[in-house]
Amino acid sequence: MVAVAILAAGKGTRMKSDLPKVLHLLGGRSLVERVLISCADLQPERQLAIVGYQANRVKEAMLHYPDLEFVEQSQQLGTGHAVQQLLPYLADFKGDLLVLNGDVPLLRPETLKALLQTHQQHQNAATILTSQIPNPQGYGRVFCDSSNLLKEIIEDRDCTETQRQNRRVNAGIYCFNWQKLQEVLPKLQSNNDQQEYYITDAVNFLSPVMVYDVPDYQEILGINDRRQLATAYQIIQSRIKDNWMAAGVTIIDPDSVTIDDTVKIGVDAIIEPQTHLRGDTTIGIGSRIGPGSLIENSQIGSNVRVLHSVIVDSSIGHNANVGPFAHIRQYVHVGESCRVGNFVELKKTTLGDNTNVAHLSYIGDATVGKQVNIGAGTITVNYDGKHKHQTTIGNFARIGSNNTLVAPLNIGSEVTTAAGSTIVKDVPNDCLAIARSHQTIKPGWRPKWHQE
Ligand code: UD1
Ligand code: MG
Repeated sequence: MVAVAILAAGKGTRMKSDLPKVLHLLGGRSLVERVLISCADLQPERQLAIVGYQANRVKEAMLHYPDLEFVEQSQQLGTGHAVQQLLPYLADFKGDLLVLNGDVPLLRPETLKALLQTHQQHQNAATILTSQIPNPQGYGRVFCDSSNLLKEIIEDRDCTETQRQNRRVNAGIYCFNWQKLQEVLPKLQSNNDQQEYYITDAVNFLSPVMVYDVPDYQEILGINDRRQLATAYQIIQSRIKDNWMAAGVTIIDPDSVTIDDTVKIGVDAIIEPQTHLRGDTTIGIGSRIGPGSLIENSQIGSNVRVLHSVIVDSSIGHNANVGPFAHIRQYVHVGESCRVGNFVELKKTTLGDNTNVAHLSYIGDATVGKQVNIGAGTITVNYDGKHKHQTTIGNFARIGSNNTLVAPLNIGSEVTTAAGSTIVKDVPNDCLAIARSHQTIKPGWRPKWHQE
């Protein structure tokens, strides 16, 4: 049996933030959520999060994990003190306890599996995850013998200069035989530089303790400040982009592109430079996105072209062409083979298949049929200062250039509206609507001052 405990009670002083450290976002997910995801494959019997600093805020952010139990550490007296809080909760638990630091978000599930396997195979009292890292500053140093049996863990600040040269560090991830840990937890003391109770001291009391070295030291990066947060983001990004390139997606300039790990991309899609794909987004087969586009929580069909545009919370049908400089937001559905051109904003709008809104338009709160052409510079007047109103436009309509469509408004199918019209009344099917003043010509006219 395995229980998992995540240490998430610390403030994260070095982040210099009002937000608890474990709630800082890394590529769309909080640090603590990433830690939870990394151990989900182990299918633990129990999952506990130790919370303290702004406990309610952390709990609220984790409400979508109904199986997660919260353990309060009202004063944050160190990582050992945090684990001590588990004693009443796991009094009857028999099995192994995996302890994870809430600020170590890059662990691969395979690594945790291997750690647990090593622990169980050797029947260790504890097994700790370690790695040899180029810059070990700030990490606890791990000293062990040639058969990987632990001698000692010493915190960076408690190390002598010689001890500090050791580049094998403690990842803050431990597997414990819970019954053995239960016995030593009450013995922890706070006689160190920080006057805190260290979980690393509990490890020092146990035997046998083995270390498990992760070859990829990047996995154990702990986030203590914003610089480390940015480094972790880069690592996650290169993992995500490498995966997509291996799966048949072209990313022209990976360094200038960011992709959340929630995004899905079809084969032969081309992601051009300075493009950012976020949240629950899918990109269909063969689509070409960018350069310079942001797509968030949106579904893009196959063979779609998006150039220098922003698309949020919307969907785009197959073979559509968007941009340059289009802004599509809030539940827009663009049909297949549509064209949404430069300087066009769409909001809460549906466009039927083969419809074009090609230049300089705002279409909001509208339902537009198929094969409609919206002329350049047309806008829906959807807001009267208090309420939003709907516009509908039937199939095959041709809205002239520079029309003002004052909602609520229904324009029928196969309608033509004259250029420059301000349409305020419904238009029936199959007709021409002209709503503009007649042009007047005054021959030989001059301004008054010109006549004097
Ligand atoms: C810790 C380890 C260090 C290791 C490093 C890896 C100790 C004493 N040191 O140091 O050996 O190399 O992680 O990243 O454990 N927390 C609580 N309650 C507390 C204090 C902290 O829940 O009272 C939580 C924090 O929210 C954080 C985690 O424990 O998620 C680690 O705390 P942190 O202060 O970052 O420890 P480090 O100094 O990084
Ligand atoms: Mg830390």
